[in-house]
Amino acid sequence: MSLSLNEVTLTYPDGAGRLTALDAVTLEVPAGSLTAVVGPSGSGKSSLLAVAATLVRPDSGEVSIGGTTTAGLSRAALSALRRRAVGIVFQQPNLLPALTAVEQLQVMAHLDGQLTRAARAKALLLLESVGIGELAHRRPHQLSGGQRQRVNIARALMVSPSVLLVDEPTSALDHERGAAIVELLAAHTRAEGIATVLVTHDTSHLASTDALVTLADGAVRSQ
Ligand SMILES: Nc1ncnc2c1ncn2[C@@H]1O[C@H](COP(=O)(O)OP(=O)(O)OP(=O)(O)O)[C@@H](O)[C@H]1O
Ligand SMILES: [Mg+2]
Repeated sequence: MSLSLNEVTLTYPDGAGRLTALDAVTLEVPAGSLTAVVGPSGSGKSSLLAVAATLVRPDSGEVSIGGTTTAGLSRAALSALRRRAVGIVFQQPNLLPALTAVEQLQVMAHLDGQLTRAARAKALLLLESVGIGELAHRRPHQLSGGQRQRVNIARALMVSPSVLLVDEPTSALDHERGAAIVELLAAHTRAEGIATVLVTHDTSHLASTDALVTLADGAVRSQ
């Protein structure tokens, strides 16, 4: 499924007025492609992901997932759409301290009503695919930052998302590990036909992405 944003504007209350976080942003991410979003702090990158994830409704404009316009959907329908089709990787992994890596992934399947045994098998395969299959039974405090970030990504892939939204997954990592994470995302994006948006500060990884969008003050800067 593709992801598209059409003339999306989002404002937040700011004192007596409003702050424009996204200013008529138009973006088309085809299935099987990875778009990188860069821009200074405060330029609207995380806001763009929140709107694309349907977590925040824009003031105006349209967000479509797989050709379905989300504007008319109820809260319940949006949350079902997110569970089924949208993977979100927040900057902080937010793993549950008491659960092992494989259990972090199984929680997602449980929320989605998948069967336990099939879910466990899928979770183990995904951990292998992100290169940490042998660490499946470790808890977060027994993993490095990069390994936790891999669990975080594998968890988002657990629902087989059509749209994958990733916020600065490499900021806590050194250059080499960061590059490996971006390559991993690109490989999954192409193999599974996912529409992926990757927010990053590090433009040195961009060789493995398909498109680059630069935000400045909430607007897409022409390339
Ligand atoms: N919930 C909110 N209420 C009010 N203003 C907000 C809110 N969230 C973000 N903003 C403002 O909207 C603008 C865009 O914020 P956003 O988090 O999207 O930026 P960003 O590009 O992700 O920055 P960073 O690189 O620091 O993560 C900023 O000016 C920010 O202060
Ligand atoms: Mg941000």
